[in-house]
Amino acid sequence: MSDMHTIPLAALERAIRLVVAGFGSAPDEIESVAANLIDANLTGHDSHGIGMLPRYTEAYLEGGLAPNAHARIVLDAGALLRLDGSAGFGQVIGKEAMALGIARARRHGSAIVALGNSHHLGRIGAWAEQVAAAGLVSLHFVNVMAPPIVAPYGGIRPGFGTNPFTAGVPLAGRAPLILDFATSMIAYGKSRVAYNKGQAVPEGCIIDNEGRPTTDPRWIVTEPSGAILAFGAHKGYGLAVLCELLGGALAAGMVGHREDGSKKRILNGMLSVIVDPAALGGSAAFEREAQAFVDSLLGAPPRPGFDQVQIAGDPEREQRARRSARGLPVDATTWQQILDAAASLGVDRRSVQCAAGLA
Ligand SMILES: NC(=O)c1ccc[n+]([C@@H]2O[C@H](COP(=O)([O-])OP(=O)(O)OC[C@H]3O[C@@H](n4cnc5c(N)ncnc54)[C@H](O)[C@@H]3O)[C@@H](O)[C@H]2O)c1
Repeated sequence: MSDMHTIPLAALERAIRLVVAGFGSAPDEIESVAANLIDANLTGHDSHGIGMLPRYTEAYLEGGLAPNAHARIVLDAGALLRLDGSAGFGQVIGKEAMALGIARARRHGSAIVALGNSHHLGRIGAWAEQVAAAGLVSLHFVNVMAPPIVAPYGGIRPGFGTNPFTAGVPLAGRAPLILDFATSMIAYGKSRVAYNKGQAVPEGCIIDNEGRPTTDPRWIVTEPSGAILAFGAHKGYGLAVLCELLGGALAAGMVGHREDGSKKRILNGMLSVIVDPAALGGSAAFEREAQAFVDSLLGAPPRPGFDQVQIAGDPEREQRARRSARGLPVDATTWQQILDAAASLGVDRRSVQCAAGLA
């Protein structure tokens, strides 16, 4: 297993801002990209955090990621928006898309935002959190325009990406429900993290290039490649297909498997449905019933092997609090890849090392 660094939050923020500045990003963009990636690490989703920077760097250097781009309204039908992400950083485009959707849902009671051509939107839960913080409910169907990596139920060859489904529900008197998962057994980045750490992935998640079960992440990270399985057999597979049809074909006008596999860019399409509970007229009942229901779940006795019953979003909030206080674990291979990426962006490795307190 490779060595781990534990980097205090403030030091990691300084170091990652230096790396992101290498893209030529404006100060706001540096802040948005660094904060979003680090927050993914803080919430425990290292697969969608700073470890993405080497891939973003390759995408940028080959012209597939456009720094300082903004979400552009292509169609404005009031409560229905079609946006073009201009191949900009998803960390910026996602935030702008949700801000537009929130404003429209407040005005019309609900809004649908169809977003295409955004570079990688990262941890989709961040967008559900942004909407929930505004007191609104949201659903997000996302596809991934990158070489397919997940096999259809019953198939051997990959047919689509790890297509996340995400929902956010604000709750009275407590933090929101944030349900946020890849429709694959594991996110692609979790295979990369396991491979970098020299670890196996859990059983039942991936198959080799002949469809045989394996736990070796090399089948996902290197050639010849196998495939990740969809979660929940035919049910998760069905949800993955829905994400491709809604986030890809409908919102982005493009499905993932058409993407040129030689390219390093990762584009996401996302269909977001945003609802203002107050506009439905029964927000008091919604708040009361939702709170009572969630309390009944959380009050249930845990079964052996569990400390407590939680709702979606709680594990990320706990991890965020823990890692904010104790520092963020970053494996040495991933850190080295980030330093290499910084160097190829013209950023001095040593200054990044010093900022992180690792020199
Ligand atoms: N942008 C992209 O292209 C892309 C693609 C795939 C995945 N992703 C992101 O990858 C991230 C990781 O996805 P994943 O599938 O590995 O997530 P995961 O398997 O860790 O599941 C996370 C979800 O399960 C909930 N959860 C976990 N333990 C729980 C418990 N004990 N009780 C109740 N709820 C619990 C979490 O709160 C969260 O909502 C997500 O943020 C997703 O958006 C992004």
